[in-house]
This record gives sequence, C-alpha cells and structure tokens, in this order.
Amino acid sequence: MLEVAHLVGVALLLGNLLLLEARVWGLGAALPVQPLARLSLGLAVLGFGLAAASGLTMFATMPSELLGNRVFTAKMALIALAACNAGWFHGRRSLQRLDGTARALLGVSTLLWLTVLTCGRWIGYV
Ligand code: HEM
Repeated sequence: MLEVAHLVGVALLLGNLLLLEARVWGLGAALPVQPLARLSLGLAVLGFGLAAASGLTMFATMPSELLGNRVFTAKMALIALAACNAGWFHGRRSLQRLDGTARALLGVSTLLWLTVLTCGRWIGYV
C-alpha cells in the first residue's frame, strides 16, 4: 500500500508539472497561466508530499540497506537539486515572464523528476 501511495504521489507530481510545462511552452494558449499554475502546482506539491511521506515510511523499514545504496543517495541528491531548480524558477518570478529561461527551467525540472523516477525504480536492482 505504501508503494501504491508512492506512485499516486509521483503521478500527481509529474502529471501536473507536465501540464504547466505544456502551457508555458505555448500549448493551450487560451488557458490563463496564473489560475492554471495555482491549481497544477498545488496538486503537484500535494503529490510530492504523498511521495515523500510514503517514501520516508518505506525508508524507515530498511534504513541501513538504503543508506548504503548509491542509487538511493543519488535520488535524494536529485530531489534536492529539483528543489533548488524550483526555487530559482519561482525566485525570478518565471510565471510572470514566461521567457526562454522559464521554459528552460521547467524543461530541466521535468528531466530531473524523470531521473528521480528512474532512480526510484532502479533502487531495487542494485
Ligand atoms: C523524500 C522523498 C522520497 C523518498 C524518501 C523516497 C523513497 C523511496 C523508497 C524507500 C522506495 C523503495 C525502493 C525499493 O525498495 O525498491 C522508493 C521507490 C520509488 N520511488 Fe521514491 N522516494 C521519494 C520521492 C520520490 C519521487 C519524488 C519520485 C518520482 C518523481 C519517486 C519515485 C519512485 C519510484 C518510481 C519508485 C519505485 C516504486 C515501485 O517500484 O513500485 N520517489 N522511493
């Protein structure tokens, strides 16, 4: 059940980020950015909260194995990097500008979260 909760969280996070990214990249131009961003980022944060809570609970069941797992360490470092990227995106008020940097930072965000997802699946194989 923890893995199910984890994957629901991952789906909410990535699905909503991709929706916002599509809008910032110019798709669905009729949709107003600010309300769409409020909704999609709210759901993405909820998804991350669910993934983090279930992930930390799974971690608590086997901490020493996971702390010795290089892929788990890489996954945590990538999550920290994704948080810095999000801080940069919002710190420069990208949603008010929608310029090339905003598009690039959202692209980097999606790549980082996809790599986090890949590491999550990979943990069990090393
Ligand atoms: C603080 C945040 C997180 C922690 C502590 C955490 C921890 C974990 C742990 C302990 C596992 C089980 C590994 C195993 O035994 O095979 C796992 C699996 C996984 N995680 Fe995370 N995780 C977090 C966030 C995320 C995020 C944000 C994503 C995706 C963007 C993600 C994607 C995955 C995936 C795809 C799996 C494999 C699930 C499966 O095979 O059923 N995790 N995570």
